[in-house]
Amino acid sequence: MEGKGSYNEHARLPALGGALAIPYLENAIADVLLGEAGAPLVIADYGSSQGRNSLLPMRSAIAAVRARAGAERPILVFHEDQPVNDFNSLFEVLDAAPDRYTLGDPNVFPCAVGRSFYEAVLPRDFVHVAWSSYAAMWLSRIPGLIPGHFFFERSVGETRAVFERQGASDWERFLTLRMQELRPGGCLVVSVPGADDDGRSVFAGVLDVANTVLGEMVDEGAISAEERSRMVLNVWPRRRADLVAPFGSGGRFGSLVLRCSATETVPDSAWADYQQDGNARALADRHSMFFRSIFTPTLATALDRVRAGDPDAAAAFADRLTEGLGERLAHAPASLDSLVQIIVVARSVS
Ligand SMILES: C[S@@+](CC[C@H](N)C(=O)[O-])C[C@H]1O[C@@H](n2cnc3c(N)ncnc32)[C@H](O)[C@@H]1O
Repeated sequence: MEGKGSYNEHARLPALGGALAIPYLENAIADVLLGEAGAPLVIADYGSSQGRNSLLPMRSAIAAVRARAGAERPILVFHEDQPVNDFNSLFEVLDAAPDRYTLGDPNVFPCAVGRSFYEAVLPRDFVHVAWSSYAAMWLSRIPGLIPGHFFFERSVGETRAVFERQGASDWERFLTLRMQELRPGGCLVVSVPGADDDGRSVFAGVLDVANTVLGEMVDEGAISAEERSRMVLNVWPRRRADLVAPFGSGGRFGSLVLRCSATETVPDSAWADYQQDGNARALADRHSMFFRSIFTPTLATALDRVRAGDPDAAAAFADRLTEGLGERLAHAPASLDSLVQIIVVARSVS
């Protein structure tokens, strides 16, 4: 994600998608085994980014836990993300946001872990409530180049098959690690941007436009053709079937039990505003800044100057790409109503 709080500022769409999973989180917490009275309760937030979008789900989780465990029980909230994450912005939000979840609750203690969620990030049998929103669609690595594009959905044949294998094994790895970290009787709620049953997502349209702009940038010499060919997003919007596959017909994956899964539509708030004010430029700016804050840092890793440590290269690249994307999107206003996939699992006690 783009640093200096950029993700916090522009990630309204993931906030709305994650919010649709909160009722599932509250329901799941009703069945969590809370263990020994007085011992700290542990909530984990996997792929927290810069924290703004974690405030509402964490506040909801804390309220649901408090309703059962009382006001005195200490609660630890672990926010986990990659070591390169903008943890400064995360801690600023946790310390100063008017809607921070610690406000009025002296027995809640936020913590952070800078480590990939494709590794063990917390001790075994430790977590009561696990949450991950709009993060588990990032693969552990880029499995291959995509000729002519940078987005999985536009790959075909063996390239696509390689991505699908990587996605399936990463998802099983994510579940296995979370299973180990959950306490028996704990719950895990995951939401990810979704694809429909045919594997299509609404994001492909915007990413096609960005791909066209990258072609223009090659033509004008802003980036080289070789750099362009190295650009790939290790991200994959999932079908619901992809998420439930490891659980098989019996609804179990090791000691994890599938409680439910759902697909919901995330309304595009920028589009709703556009329908009121007709401001195509504002709509295009919101969509292009959303794209910039999430995707340009990964694309920029393909640039020679970024690899050589030039501190300004990634921002200059993002400026040019975002400008070209905004120009084009403003001429063809479109909604980004998207799908979110939600899955709820519990760790069995036996
Ligand atoms: C789109 S943001 C979502 C942030 C927030 N949870 C939300 O709902 O808005 C995705 C986050 O997942 C993180 N992420 C991607 N791969 C990861 C990994 N392997 N381990 C930990 N975090 C990862 C990214 O660094 C990023 O902060």
